[in-house]
Amino acid sequence: EEVITDAPSLDALPTIPLFSDLPRDAFIELFERCPLRRFSAGERIIEQGSHGDAFYVICEGQARVFRMDAERRVELAVLEGGAFFGEMAILSGAPRTASVEAASEDTQLLEISAPVLASLSRSHPQVAAALKKFVRQRLLTNVMN
Ligand code: CMP
Repeated sequence: EEVITDAPSLDALPTIPLFSDLPRDAFIELFERCPLRRFSAGERIIEQGSHGDAFYVICEGQARVFRMDAERRVELAVLEGGAFFGEMAILSGAPRTASVEAASEDTQLLEISAPVLASLSRSHPQVAAALKKFVRQRLLTNVMN
């Protein structure tokens, strides 16, 4: 894992549905405030059961989400560019509900800390509303898996 220091080209980013209602200046500010991290294929990003204090938006590559039930590995999702993960633990304060690993070489993630999300949600409540909608859908999927 490494931090990418040169600024990403915002125009090369995939569409990020979570931020579709965010004004462009707020979007740019978010990318200036948050580190962009690079992972290689198979590298673990989130460990099920651990404490979480950030969530991630996929700027490049894919990520695999899975859960261990006793010894059984349950595949929950493969997330593509523009998707996000790791929001549940920072919203609920509960441990990470699943593990996430990079599924492609050069997976690039914007890491958004809990305090940055909190201030973003205050200034742009539509982001918080969109986030909740995604969480509801994911929880429903997991209950049925
Ligand atoms: P969190 O619990 O913080 O850490 C694991 C993450 O996996 C979780 O947040 C979600 O972002 C993600 N996740 C869990 N279940 C699903 C699902 N069904 N589809 C997509 N992502 C999921």
